[in-house]
Amino acid sequence: MPLVPMRVLLDHAAENGYGVGAFNVNNMEQIQAIMIAATETNSPVIVQASRGARSYSNDNYLRHLMLAAVELNPGIPIAMHQDHGNSPATCYSAIAQGFTSVMMDGSLMEDGKSPATYEYNVDVTRKVVEKAHAAGVTVEGELGCLGGIEDGHGAGLSGDEALQHLTDPEQAEDFVAKTGCDALAVAIGTSHGAYKFTREPTGEVLRMDIIREIHERLPNTHIVMHGSSSVPKHLIDIINEFGGEMKPTWGVPVKEIQEGIRHGVRKINVDTDNRLAMTGAVRRVLSQKLGEFDPRYYLGPAREAMAELVKERMIAFGQAGQADKVPKTGLADMKARYGTA
Ligand code: G3H
Ligand code: 13P
Ligand code: ZN
Repeated sequence: MPLVPMRVLLDHAAENGYGVGAFNVNNMEQIQAIMIAATETNSPVIVQASRGARSYSNDNYLRHLMLAAVELNPGIPIAMHQDHGNSPATCYSAIAQGFTSVMMDGSLMEDGKSPATYEYNVDVTRKVVEKAHAAGVTVEGELGCLGGIEDGHGAGLSGDEALQHLTDPEQAEDFVAKTGCDALAVAIGTSHGAYKFTREPTGEVLRMDIIREIHERLPNTHIVMHGSSSVPKHLIDIINEFGGEMKPTWGVPVKEIQEGIRHGVRKINVDTDNRLAMTGAVRRVLSQKLGEFDPRYYLGPAREAMAELVKERMIAFGQAGQADKVPKTGLADMKARYGTA
């Protein structure tokens, strides 16, 4: 089965009440880890690449790695998604590379840092929807700004400022009506990276109530949670046990994500947890075997650690067991559905 439009996975998830993890990739081992987890759990998958990932790995390598994943796993529906497209041009180049889904993040200006106006956001998102749907490609928009910039994304807001840039549910209704986007990323107090919360988050800093209200107003829009790594303590402990120096921190508890899934969250973005799992595995090998210099002996365990983490998330989000049930809808079928064929 060729790469599928992300909309197909999200629609099936909505019809059957589950969520789909969207895992970031930069290299072969990460793509392999996701596919190992997907085949072992019979899960549909969203693989996503940031702009940074595309320039690190090079579009051509990435495209061929994704084609290999498709070739080797014909029973798994796979969507390839551009994470945080900063401009229409970035989204169009992703479509040209064969991505079946793009995020136009017009909540920020092209620099990926400065908060944009609502009008700018509507304008760029609508433009991307028009071109993407003409190719059957899915579009995710974003309304509101995430808090963190430690990974290069986000508005660089302090905790208090971030709380003022949360998604406004009433504006969300207007945004979806004006842009026609398939999925909407919302700002509910999470941020990218490992340092999201200084203690187990309560409803005051992790505003799950916003998700519930958006879902009531927009029951047919797929909600996307960014910054959804849970930052498990045991992964931080492994890194620190083997020479790392990570500070105590909290992420988004899996049970909160599950609560989101009950209220319209269909795509859950996870990158940091995989980075932590891989880093801990590499540190362990290199500090226990000081003479080791074959990358296969530390990248292999890193791949295994990531596959384990992804598998746990696939089970928790409910996508496990669904791969063979997803309808075989392709880009051409989506064009017909959008009325752009
Ligand atoms: O959106 C954030 C993801 O973690 C990707 O981060 O830009 O460092 O690849 P990146
Ligand atoms: P985390 O940093 O919490 O993994 O979030 C990743 C993300 O939102 C990618 O867009
Ligand atoms: Zn994100």
